[in-house]
Amino acid sequence: MSKDAVYIVTGSSRGIGLEVTNQLLRNGHRVVAISRSHDSLDQIVSGYPGLLTIKPADLSDSASIAQLANELKETETVIAGLVNNAGILINKPFMESDREDWEAQLRLNVIAPALLTRSLVPMMIRGAHVLNISSMGGYQGSSKFPGLSAYSASKGALAILTESLAVELSDRGISSNCLCLGAVQTEMLEQAFPGIHVPVTPEQMGRYIADFVCNGHALYNGRILPVALSDPE
Ligand SMILES: NC(=O)c1ccc[n+]([C@@H]2O[C@H](COP(=O)([O-])OP(=O)(O)OC[C@H]3O[C@@H](n4cnc5c(N)ncnc54)[C@H](OP(=O)(O)O)[C@@H]3O)[C@@H](O)[C@H]2O)c1
Repeated sequence: MSKDAVYIVTGSSRGIGLEVTNQLLRNGHRVVAISRSHDSLDQIVSGYPGLLTIKPADLSDSASIAQLANELKETETVIAGLVNNAGILINKPFMESDREDWEAQLRLNVIAPALLTRSLVPMMIRGAHVLNISSMGGYQGSSKFPGLSAYSASKGALAILTESLAVELSDRGISSNCLCLGAVQTEMLEQAFPGIHVPVTPEQMGRYIADFVCNGHALYNGRILPVALSDPE
């Protein structure tokens, strides 16, 4: 792998994405961190001189994705891995959900990873890894939670997108995998299920994902993998 190749992490300002970013940096990798807010990233950047580049962007906006890709191209960025981690969850009973709820979740959870991946593939090295972060709700045959129909459908679509990417990008030597996470104690989980306590921390999951994006594609390609202690959590 080129020494200067970077890992791109979306949804890096908090939760799992922040911990993936932290772990990659600790291991000496260069990281481009993408999210709308960046206070937490501003606080760690000086600890990793030359390793962390912060790129604020709203990934639900196509123009913002295009601008981001142009900026990375202009700086001749070379990419070793992409973690499509940014996501939203709107907990609403199916019968109360409206077009806006569906579009918002599909836009960020499926369309954004597709458009971002498409824009960044030309900058990826042979041997690069596209890692999509889905949910147990998007894993076929898993127990489903009420209120998460649109979220789970969006994550299921992301999982299947992964299988398609593995086929379409194979001639470029790029692998693609999808991790379907069980519950992790983050703001997303706490907002959706107030008062919930689960045993898995963002640090634990971040470490696992950071290792997987660097090494997992040596043994997996086009795989949809559950990462959960039990089903349901
Ligand atoms: N926590 C769980 O139990 C769990 C379980 C299964 C799967 N997951 C998945 O794991 C991923 C991370 O979840 P999390 O729990 O860490 O969530 P989180 O704490 O809510 O963090 C979400 C991240 O996504 C970013 N984001 C949200 N909207 C964005 C947008 N429009 N453009 C760019 N970035 C945006 C947020 O940053 P800004 O707000 O600053 O933009 C934040 O950094 C998600 O895909 C989630 O679906 C989580």
